[in-house]
Amino acid sequence: MGPIENVFYEKKATSESMIYDRFRKKESLNGQWHYAYDQYDTFLRGKWFEEVYYDEHGNTLPIDYSFDEWDMMKLPCCWNTTDKMFMLYEGSMVFTRTFMYAAQSDDERVILKIGAANYICRVFINKKYVGMHRGGSTPCYFDITEYLQHKNRIFIQVDNTRRPEQAPAMNTDWFNYGGVYRDIDIYRVPKLHIRDFRIALVPDSGFGQIKTDVLISCDYTGKAKLTIDELGVSKEIEIENGKGALSFEAEPELWSPENPKLYDVSLECAGDKVTDKVGFREICVRGTDIFINGEPVFLRGVSAHEESVFNGKALTDNERIENIRIAKELGCNFMRVAHYPHSERMAQLADKLGIMLWEEVPVYWDIQFESDASYCDAENQLKELIRRDFNRASVIIWSVGNENQDTDVRLKFMGGLAKSAHSEDPTRMVSAACLVNSQKNKIEDRLEQYLDIIGINEYVGWYTAEWSRLPELFKNSAPKKPVIITEFGADALSGFRGTITDKGTEDYQAYVYEQQTENIRQIPYIKGMTPWILYDFRCPRRTSAIQKYYNTKGLLSADKTHRKPAFYVLQEFYHSLEGK
Ligand code: GCU
Repeated sequence: MGPIENVFYEKKATSESMIYDRFRKKESLNGQWHYAYDQYDTFLRGKWFEEVYYDEHGNTLPIDYSFDEWDMMKLPCCWNTTDKMFMLYEGSMVFTRTFMYAAQSDDERVILKIGAANYICRVFINKKYVGMHRGGSTPCYFDITEYLQHKNRIFIQVDNTRRPEQAPAMNTDWFNYGGVYRDIDIYRVPKLHIRDFRIALVPDSGFGQIKTDVLISCDYTGKAKLTIDELGVSKEIEIENGKGALSFEAEPELWSPENPKLYDVSLECAGDKVTDKVGFREICVRGTDIFINGEPVFLRGVSAHEESVFNGKALTDNERIENIRIAKELGCNFMRVAHYPHSERMAQLADKLGIMLWEEVPVYWDIQFESDASYCDAENQLKELIRRDFNRASVIIWSVGNENQDTDVRLKFMGGLAKSAHSEDPTRMVSAACLVNSQKNKIEDRLEQYLDIIGINEYVGWYTAEWSRLPELFKNSAPKKPVIITEFGADALSGFRGTITDKGTEDYQAYVYEQQTENIRQIPYIKGMTPWILYDFRCPRRTSAIQKYYNTKGLLSADKTHRKPAFYVLQEFYHSLEGK
């Protein structure tokens, strides 16, 4: 049994493999799957998926698997939260089940969608390798039509091993969950179907022009029809060789966190029809100001990981709704959903409940910036994120990464990502959470030239002891673009009280928030903040007495049952800003 064959690194699903699927009829493959943990990748090395039980003479072969006798796991989930023995497991797992299929029309294509699997996932159907996906937080799609028969056996092999060439790479300040942790669905679409459908207000500050872009699955030339009944819109779009675009006048009620107005839109083309619920709003920057729908805004935010004590990254809608509700109670109009794409459900719920989002790809800390393969991996995740959430009014900023040293190779890598984001989506701002130039104690990062908004992580009062560094930092800096303080904070063990000099206590954390907000309030070019972090989260790097494998910079405990005093300091600050 030799090395893993190269073929299992080919046939990659990318942003180009995606179809437009929101509100499409789907058949779920969620539920009980047989599984085996596969530390040595024997499934791939031994090509178990080929199910060879006899040799050329008809003798039975000794085999090392019996799929239908394997234990079962309910997907989607993070395997870490299913059983203590998998809590710290990093490696491969193989999931399998059977399902029946009967064609409903002779030209249908059958698309398998995996909402997310961390980090590499591979699909096999009926003894054949279908393809693979790299990236732990974005969906992948595979056209499985040619592989199907009446009764089908599917395998999904998932490998959450951290690797230097991946994004994120080896070292992160969060827990490396593994598994197929978002929905697994099958879509039946006509051979000629809508692959991508983008619609947004034209960002010309006129608020009276809507643009839509359409991509069809083959080089179809003809017409598509866009309908927005509530706006009296019914427009024909010319499609040429599979692509079409149209700008037209309309005066929608604008979406905002205060008024999260959504319109039912539909697009039909040659018998295929998709629908969506879309908010129309404009985000733009002028000088050091940020404008939403022409009004200057201060982004009263908070950062959040995608994690719950019970479900790891596989949050339920109730948990997402709770997080948004707590953020709004805090006085937030904005959330930084860090450090990787959260579920598409988060942006859909944010559209509906009214809160703006900063979404981010995990170009985090040390990435192989000199590697073209790493760049392709990161750029593909960015394009998958933008394609997935383009129609989400709540998403106002794409972030190309977090806390990366200002080097030449990093500048080329992340400058390239920023250019790619601007090219994919001219309607949103592009940012990144940058480091302070600590030698000069100044906001100065060469990446700024590619960004619309400058994110700054600064931990004065925690990693930087001298409080004088904070007013000096702001005084030394003269950014020409808006700044969002994307991180400040302090660890605090829930319930651990002391004085404002006792690091690790809730009192010290509250003091940090008082000092930080008092300084930030005075700086005109700071137009937002997303303190680190809404609630404590699991982190293998944090082992002190007040952490115990959790990062405890949360404003709430990990299970969100306990609010630390800093929650109320921030809430009071945000309430003092409301209406400004
Ligand atoms: C960094 C990093 C976070 C991390 C935080 C911390 O700024 O971006 O991911 O959790 O600091 O040290 O707590």
